[in-house]
This record gives sequence, structure tokens and C-alpha cells, in this order.
Amino acid sequence: MQDHSVVTLGVADLSGVMDLERMCFRTRWTREQFLLGLERKAFRILGIQERGVLIAYVAFSVIAGEMEILNIATHPFHRRKGLGARLLSEVLRLCRAEDVAEGFLEVRRSNTGAIDLYEKFGFIQIGIRKNYYPDNKEDALLFRLGFQDGQGAGPGTPPSAKEA
Ligand SMILES: CC(C)(COP(=O)(O)OP(=O)(O)OC[C@H]1O[C@@H](n2cnc3c(N)ncnc32)[C@H](O)[C@@H]1OP(=O)(O)O)[C@@H](O)C(=O)NCCC(=O)NCCS
Repeated sequence: MQDHSVVTLGVADLSGVMDLERMCFRTRWTREQFLLGLERKAFRILGIQERGVLIAYVAFSVIAGEMEILNIATHPFHRRKGLGARLLSEVLRLCRAEDVAEGFLEVRRSNTGAIDLYEKFGFIQIGIRKNYYPDNKEDALLFRLGFQDGQGAGPGTPPSAKEA
């Protein structure tokens, strides 16, 4: 049984992040974008490793009480094993601990797997950005999660069930 605990990633882990980025996204961030973001503390990256190799990560920012999921990815060989959910769950736990009010994210309209994941955690679609993605002009769906609405407690928890 592998230990899939969530760890905070830093500059030294960026080659693993870039490997996943290449495998998982059509439009990718550059190493410089990740580096600048980490150095300026514009966002944080959490990851899950297996035998020293990064197999999933999430990048998110928290600014003025608002969290944004910037990127989340699981290695194609390791999908549907709960790693994405584990990462998202940890981000939301940190947000609750830091009294974050709400969270946002954008996702391609066609990315039904990711949308399913977000909805399980209580994210609700609040808008559409038409022709948002430059590679194929696909729409982005904008999702929001309100921590004070009792959302974000995790899969299986009714949105109305506020945590103590
Ligand atoms: C989206 C992504 C991060 C999910 O990671 P994952 O580790 O496979 O997710 P999990 O195993 O934790 O899935 C949790 C739940 O999300 C939903 N889900 C995840 N992938 C799904 C898929 N391909 N189809 C349908 N539902 C999916 C399911 O509800 C799943 O629960 P279940 O397996 O019990 O049915 C992964 O598919 C990925 O890296 N995709 C490419 C990058 C990407 O699109 N990122 C999102 C950008 S907005």
C-alpha cells in the first residue's frame, strides 16, 4: 500500500511539476511562470509522490480571502484512484483553516471528469467565459464555492450541512 500523503512543493520539485504539466495539459504554464509564482508567494503547490516521483499536483492562490484553483493534474496512469480528490480536499481544508470566504476556478466545458470532481466538492457553476481558451476557442465554465455557505466540506456532504 503506497503512502499517498499530500506534501507542499517548492522550487526543487518543479521538474516533476513540469513533467506532469506536459502530460496533462494542451496549454501549459512554463517553468518560469511556476518559479515566479512560488518565489513571489503568489500561489502554493501541493503534490502527491510515489517512490519519489510526483504523480499529482494542485496549484492554488489565496488572495484577500479568495481562493482560486489554478491547475490540478494527476498522472494519466494514476487517475481515478482518488488523488485529485485528496488534493482538492487538502486545499479546502487549508482554506477553512485560513478563514477563506470563497473559492473559484475555470474549467473547459468539455472537461466533464474535472467538472464532476469539482461538483462533488460543492463547486457550483456561476458563469461562462465564451471562447476563453486560445488553442481551440473553447468556453470556460466558471465555478464558485462559498465556504460560509456550508460548501466545501467534501464529497458526500450535503451543501447545507455546515461544518462546526
Ligand atoms: C481532473 C483530474 C485532475 C482528476 O484527477 P483524478 O486523480 O483522476 O481524480 P479522482 O480519482 O480523485 O476522482 C474523483 C472524482 O472525480 C470525478 N472524476 C475524475 N475523473 C473523471 C473522469 N475522467 N470521468 C468522470 N468523472 C471523473 C469522479 O467523480 C471521481 O470519483 P469516482 O472515481 O469515485 O467516480 C485528472 O483527470 C487530470 O489530471 N486531468 C487532466 C488535467 C485536467 O484536466 N485538470 C483540470 C483542469 S480544470
